Amino acid sequence: MKKILVTGGAGYIGSHTCVELLNVGKELVVIDNFSNSKPEVIDNIKKITGKDFKFYEIDYLDREKLEKVFEENEVESVINFAGFKAVGESVAKPVEYYINNVSGALVLLETMKKYGIKKFVFSSSATVYGDPEVVPITEDSEVGGTTNPYGTSKLMIEQILQDLYKSDNSWDIVILRYFNPVGAHSSGLIGENPQGIPNNLMPYIAQVASGKLKELSVFGNDYNTKDGTGVRDYIHVVDLAIGHVKAIEKIYREGKGLYIYNLGTGKGYSVLDMLKAFEKANNIEVPYKIAPRRPGDIATCFADPRKAEKELEFRTQKSLEDMCRDTWNFQKNLM
Ligand code: UFG
Repeated sequence: MKKILVTGGAGYIGSHTCVELLNVGKELVVIDNFSNSKPEVIDNIKKITGKDFKFYEIDYLDREKLEKVFEENEVESVINFAGFKAVGESVAKPVEYYINNVSGALVLLETMKKYGIKKFVFSSSATVYGDPEVVPITEDSEVGGTTNPYGTSKLMIEQILQDLYKSDNSWDIVILRYFNPVGAHSSGLIGENPQGIPNNLMPYIAQVASGKLKELSVFGNDYNTKDGTGVRDYIHVVDLAIGHVKAIEKIYREGKGLYIYNLGTGKGYSVLDMLKAFEKANNIEVPYKIAPRRPGDIATCFADPRKAEKELEFRTQKSLEDMCRDTWNFQKNLM
């Protein structure tokens, strides 16, 4: 059977997607350089699914080693999760971010071209919409106005994919714009384990709950939202992973096109909603204080999920309670 190459397969979203792809019987070959993940993740994917796959510890910028993967395996399509993703760090290290994210994607696409592989799924982000004029955000909302190199790198790769498709419409490309992925696999074996102090809300809440951090700083309570705190569209990572399965299935079923989909739930929750939901789901107190706004943050961002519902038959299944419970279940295993 031909294989799906998953780059960054040991990462947070990559690992959950590997599980869901294996669960529906897909054959994989996985690469990762463990720059922000650990080798145990690969073992845990195998443990959860009872399935095996070939793994290469390589950097996708290493053209020679990447070519070897294509030589040694019958690759039919590629899902690209490799890349750096910390917004704040990207402001401090723009060159590193552009090289890893943009050059990495280019090396990958060039290698695919060399081997005649033209099915590609790309991890993009709702960050490409900048500060949206209207919510919910549809896929044809204007993009641009990104406020950091991480977001700009995603936008640049989207543009590269548009140009590539224009040059050769025998490519099948799906761009998935993620909203806010949270939660973990229900086994507690894989999840998000950020190095150092977490930047994102849910891992931060989880570390306060565990006693590792003292209290949550709520970044601003004077936004134009129902309780003044920022509103986002949180999507369970297992739902998000299933979105990739649907995208791959569409490519195999129909092919020929460049498609863009939002992957979100369509519901917006505030920072305080998330905090309260976490406390309720896990029966645990999470101390917090109100702090100044975080530079670059926007008030409200949530998806119009209808295009993915209609064209991919993708509907999120997991509740806010699932997101909170599974986050804590994984965090407890780290303690
Ligand atoms: N927040 C806090 N305190 C914290 C962390 C976050 O109050 O310690 C608030 C933020 O101000 C924001 C909300 O929680 O209102 C969510 O913040 P996250 O950092 O979890 O997520 P962002 O929406 O800022 O960013 C996420 C991803 C990015 C992606 C973006 C797309 O982390 O990679 O969504 O919209 F680009």
